[in-house]
Amino acid sequence: MNVIRFSDLCAQGKARGQRVFIRADMNVPQDESGRITEDTRIRASVPAIRMALDAGAAVMVTSHLGRPKEGEFKPEDSLAPVARRLGELLASAVPLVSNWVDGVTVQPGQLVLLENCRLNQGEKKNDEALARKMAALCDIYVNDAFGTAHRAEGTTYGIAQYAPIACAGPLLAAEIDAITKALANPKRPLAAIVAGSKVSTKLTILESLAEKVDRLIVGGGIANTFMLAAGLPIGQSLAEPDLAGAARSVMEKMRARGAQVPIPGDVVTAKRFAADAPAATKPAEAVEGDDLILDIGPQTAQGLAAQLREAGTIVWNGPVGVFEWDAFAHGTETIARAIAQSSAFSIAGGGDTLAAIAKYGIEKDVGYISTGGGAFLEVLEGKTLPALEILARRAAQ
Ligand code: 3PG
Repeated sequence: MNVIRFSDLCAQGKARGQRVFIRADMNVPQDESGRITEDTRIRASVPAIRMALDAGAAVMVTSHLGRPKEGEFKPEDSLAPVARRLGELLASAVPLVSNWVDGVTVQPGQLVLLENCRLNQGEKKNDEALARKMAALCDIYVNDAFGTAHRAEGTTYGIAQYAPIACAGPLLAAEIDAITKALANPKRPLAAIVAGSKVSTKLTILESLAEKVDRLIVGGGIANTFMLAAGLPIGQSLAEPDLAGAARSVMEKMRARGAQVPIPGDVVTAKRFAADAPAATKPAEAVEGDDLILDIGPQTAQGLAAQLREAGTIVWNGPVGVFEWDAFAHGTETIARAIAQSSAFSIAGGGDTLAAIAKYGIEKDVGYISTGGGAFLEVLEGKTLPALEILARRAAQ
């Protein structure tokens, strides 16, 4: 995807003295008292901000936080905690500016954080008048918010239409590069792991990947529906029997291309859904009527690990078992370690996947960890993200 890169503009000295508006995604989780519980997205936003400051720009940065009601400020919707954390990371206090749509005062070399952009009337619906006003605040618009790239809102789309220059920040550019390497131009074999509780939430991903990947590894409740489709017993396991037909057609699509959906040959079961429930390992065909499948079995895990070690590219979304509970974590741990050991280029995304990566400490061994939740899933669905589409269009003008 051809987009203008902010790093190139900076290297060419084109950001010096310019008003730069950065749309970041600093939508971080908070506890009830507003304390940030996980700050990855703020840390991931720092390079673009530093790049702009180092280039001598007057820097405005904004983000959404949650889904506030437009025009109705409530203290819990404020970016104040984000401003504090950003200030710590930059070792310099970051002023937070409210009611900024009609004008912002900021000098070259300075940074201001613009209050939650979703408080502005018209942000969500990408209102043209709002977009034009925001575009008038800057000389260069930088989109660095991959996590929100699947939303066509005022600060992710409209402003990019009207700003004098619209470009991708370093985080967005890195995401584009990793996605292109993994899906548009992959080294083969290309293996994808798609796991999670329901086929229904990931059916379009499975259908889209079935046209591209050499191995489609399913896990969790999704694997149970595939086992059902393959005629295996699944007891009381989480599954969607009405989607067994859809699972079968994914398998057929793969088979017709000479590719595979490996179905678990052994599983780990329990009689109740609880961390302390006794675990039993058994062949898939021996699952009993009152069993719950909570993980893939060790033989299946080893077989998949061998396939992952030989892969050229790996796309990972979702743990293959209830990895939060030790008795049912072996499958996910084996997969995680195989990805870490593989020489394949790997890309991972999604909340549970990131938690598994953190649990096994393999962050440095994964080729690229996406900051996107819904945006990453839409990429896997084969959709063009609106925020990328408009940047590409602007680059072509
Ligand atoms: C996310 O958390 O996935 C992004 O920040 C997008 O948030 P949204 O789903 O509220 O648009």
